[in-house]
Amino acid sequence: MWQISRYEDVRALLTDERLSKDPGRVPGYVAGPSGLNRHLVHADPPDHTRLRTLVNTAFVPRRIAQLEPFITDTAHLLLDRIETQVHVDVIGDFAAPLTFRMICAILGVPAELDTAETRDTLMATIAPAPGLDPARVEDALHALLDRLVTTKRKGGEESGVDLLGALVRASDESAAMSEEELRSTAYLLLLVGHDTTMNLIGNGTLALLRNPTEAARLTGTAAPEPVATATAVEELLRYDSPVRDATFRCAAESIVLDGQVIAEGDIVSLLIGSANRDGHRFPEPDRLDLGRTPNDHLAFGYGPHFCIGAALARLEGAVALPLLLQRLGSVALAKPADELPWRPARVMRGLAALPVVRN
Ligand code: HEM
Repeated sequence: MWQISRYEDVRALLTDERLSKDPGRVPGYVAGPSGLNRHLVHADPPDHTRLRTLVNTAFVPRRIAQLEPFITDTAHLLLDRIETQVHVDVIGDFAAPLTFRMICAILGVPAELDTAETRDTLMATIAPAPGLDPARVEDALHALLDRLVTTKRKGGEESGVDLLGALVRASDESAAMSEEELRSTAYLLLLVGHDTTMNLIGNGTLALLRNPTEAARLTGTAAPEPVATATAVEELLRYDSPVRDATFRCAAESIVLDGQVIAEGDIVSLLIGSANRDGHRFPEPDRLDLGRTPNDHLAFGYGPHFCIGAALARLEGAVALPLLLQRLGSVALAKPADELPWRPARVMRGLAALPVVRN
């Protein structure tokens, strides 16, 4: 596997049509759970264009902006529940249920499936817990998707945008989407719709707790230089990128890069986290500067596969992070930062737990 670490190279390769996103080109490569890999992350045009168009409408910024009161209310509800707790896990008590609630609302997932158990099943497919049988995880995942698709076919509960209902109709009434594509897309959105933003809130909170002067710029408390929330969220995305490596790519033909030959069929990993700390692009790259502008980071990717959920993720981050800091009040990490548990995932960079203690 080639690992590409410089900003300029990563950005150029994110738009390079000589790289394919089809894992079927690499014999023996296991891209994800069986039967669930026909989604837009693993597709080249024309399939990619078709699948992206079907999903994109639900995530356009205008529709996402309407979710703001719902995000705020849900965040407050979760924070109400932990108001009197001395020990809080920012991931388990707040970031995970908040972000999963939002993607469930957009997809139209029935309330009884919006549970920690569903989240665990999804997460186990990319970061299996030790001792867990992968076959059992896949069985649980397929059972979950069966229930979801069946509910939608019956015209079950409709909430939020109900993107899943629309996709089921697209697969039933026209040839727009096959059954395998439908199930793969549902799996993809349920997973990346929360794992990523959960990591933004987790990694972001950790960065703010370790940089109290910068955190004060965000909350406006004793701030010498307050900063716009949107600008701060961009810097948190750059500083500790929730998607550390871009998703699967391989060379569809041989490519010469900086004098090296990437042969046809070679896997190419684009290191987004590394690119976002490249000193040739970002002055003092290892410093958290919430007011950093310009900040043309690659945290959401670049080019044709640019993140569909970027507007949603930005809004969730902008609502949740200041609210969390305000309502937690004075807190400290419950254990040293270098002992915090990171999940062993290939693409994502996120904490399994972020325990804090109220002072
Ligand atoms: C802070 C949160 C998020 C980050 C950092 C993030 C990051 C990314 C990145 C880097 C890519 C491009 C990957 C590549 O080219 O290999 C991507 C694509 C994608 N993201 Fe996000 N994402 C976030 C939130 C979301 C949310 C909330 C959704 C909601 C559904 C979402 C859905 C997608 C989809 C469907 C794609 C594939 C687009 C395509 O292949 O055309 N993401 N994301």
